[in-house]
Amino acid sequence: VAARRNRVFLLRHQGMAHLQLLKPNLSWYCRKTARRVCSCRMTRKRRLSSCWVADGGATSFLNTLDTTDYNVVVVSPKNYFLFTPLLPSVAVGTLSPRSIIQPTRYVTRHKARAVEVIEAEAHHVDVANKTVSFTDNSDIQGAVSATTIAYDYLVYAVGAEVQTFGIPGVTEHACFMKELHDAEKMQRRFLDCLESAAFHGQSQEEIERLLHIVVVGGGPTGVELSGELHDFLEEDLKSWYPGLADNIKITLVEALPSVLPMFSKRLIDYTMSTFKESKIDILTQTMVKEVKDKSVTLALPSKGSGGNALWNGRMGRWQQRTLSHPGLDGPAADRANQQAGYHYRRYVSPFPHSHHAHSSPLPEYMEMKGSDGSIFAIGDCTASSHAPTAQVASQQGAYLARAFAQRVRRDNLQAQATELERSAAMILHEDERKKTLDELEGVKRQLAKFKIRPFSYSHQGTLAYIGSDKAIADLPFLNGSLATGGFLTFYFWRSAYLSTLFSLRNRTLVATDWLRTQVFGRCVFLRL
Ligand code: FAD
Ligand code: NAI
Repeated sequence: VAARRNRVFLLRHQGMAHLQLLKPNLSWYCRKTARRVCSCRMTRKRRLSSCWVADGGATSFLNTLDTTDYNVVVVSPKNYFLFTPLLPSVAVGTLSPRSIIQPTRYVTRHKARAVEVIEAEAHHVDVANKTVSFTDNSDIQGAVSATTIAYDYLVYAVGAEVQTFGIPGVTEHACFMKELHDAEKMQRRFLDCLESAAFHGQSQEEIERLLHIVVVGGGPTGVELSGELHDFLEEDLKSWYPGLADNIKITLVEALPSVLPMFSKRLIDYTMSTFKESKIDILTQTMVKEVKDKSVTLALPSKGSGGNALWNGRMGRWQQRTLSHPGLDGPAADRANQQAGYHYRRYVSPFPHSHHAHSSPLPEYMEMKGSDGSIFAIGDCTASSHAPTAQVASQQGAYLARAFAQRVRRDNLQAQATELERSAAMILHEDERKKTLDELEGVKRQLAKFKIRPFSYSHQGTLAYIGSDKAIADLPFLNGSLATGGFLTFYFWRSAYLSTLFSLRNRTLVATDWLRTQVFGRCVFLRL
């Protein structure tokens, strides 16, 4: 089974229940919807279980799902949700880690029915028997640390894994930028480099090596991180380390001809010129071939594909990407690979290898083929035509939760029809029977019309912070798009992310952090 580090979300459907309200959804870019679904009665007892693993997709799914009808169990190795868009700000101390996380229980405790949260990693899914096994891999374990439970429905939201593409030394010497601990590790290492560079008697060459940050990958994460590092340098380090600050160098390495391929040409040029002003070096068409303890080997375009340059510097950050789960091959995965270029996305399949042919997803319903409609997948772990973004994951999660509510409604109608058929057969009085049959016709008509609509993605635009209080935005506008960048966009970027944060608590913490950074600067002490 491919689910190696799965967080599992289990839902159990409860009989005789009422489906009343789909809670407001944390959808992307300030879109909050509250939908009412008519109340209906369950006449058949049924269990519903679902596994999921994620933040973007899973948060949205859990927020939107009406748990009145489901027994829900969340199994996850982390007991919090992470707001990744602001992760680069944590790496330089602009924001504190706690500001961008939301405890899972904070979400679950507000649900209509109690939701069980289990801190564990799912490692095995038995598709035939509909069970999922998980283990508590945390440092401290109780007497019971592994178990298997039954599910009716399973939702995968395992996200993507960082990918090293087999480049030697990445795992050992580079910092990733994907999880909270990655950002904290990077911050610690960077401050450690500064202190080591400040060590008495350090040679100029060694100071330059220690203070050279190489950011690999010119996607939005790499660009945002470079921008944040630049702000840290300009706004704090120049006054805290006046003798060293001039030696700090940030270099962004990108294998493709340009950074930020998902943005319009105008915004790419704007970013490049802003970086030039900020003295951030951008090396495009340059591939990192190897990472060593004290150097990075690059394949430079001028030297041809075989020419390498040994480059001294500390590895700042490795590009985030993607799934390497032993999942399934197939058209969907291949399509995603082609579209994504360097990205290599694999659908996380719970099926054994012999089932590969049946396990490709039905992306429009988030459902996995061959799973009898009991296994669903959302977010970065799916191979679809959409970009692996939180925006997509969040919309998929909300869609799936609404589809679950519709399923309940459909089952209730079916149960009602069966009940009416049974009653009609038993009723002797002609008028009464006719009334029941009319009612049955009505229910059947509703059932015939009943259709779960496929998922349709609504793109709300793309935003990125590029440092120096500037941001860029590609927003859908009328039938085209609006490309904008600069200070005003920066405030739009801030307000967009503030409003899409998980809760009032997060919004308050992030806003306070921004104010704190403005007034007192970023933290420059090492935390153990
Ligand atoms: P995730 O949010 O990645 O959640 C997956 C979770 O599953 C993780 O907590 C992980 O620990 C866990 N997990 C993974 N594998 C397993 C396993 N086998 N078993 C158990 N648990 C597992 N998108 C945007 O739209 N806008 C942005 O501004 C933006 N900024 C980003 C900034 C950064 C630094 C990064 C890294 C990503 C950013 N993204 C952004 C992308 C966005 O974070 C993802 O697309 C989104 O989080 C995907 O949601 P998900 O639910 O599929 O997976
Ligand atoms: P990415 O996959 O978008 O970018 C990684 C980059 O690294 C690619 O451009 C690739 O060409 C480059 N690369 C790969 N191997 C390399 C090598 N050996 N040497 C040099 N360059 C190499 O990854 P990123 O930026 O982490 O984003 C991941 C996802 O999250 C994307 O879908 C992105 O859209 C989303 N995201 C969105 C943000 C936003 O909307 N503001 C912010 C951050 C991420």
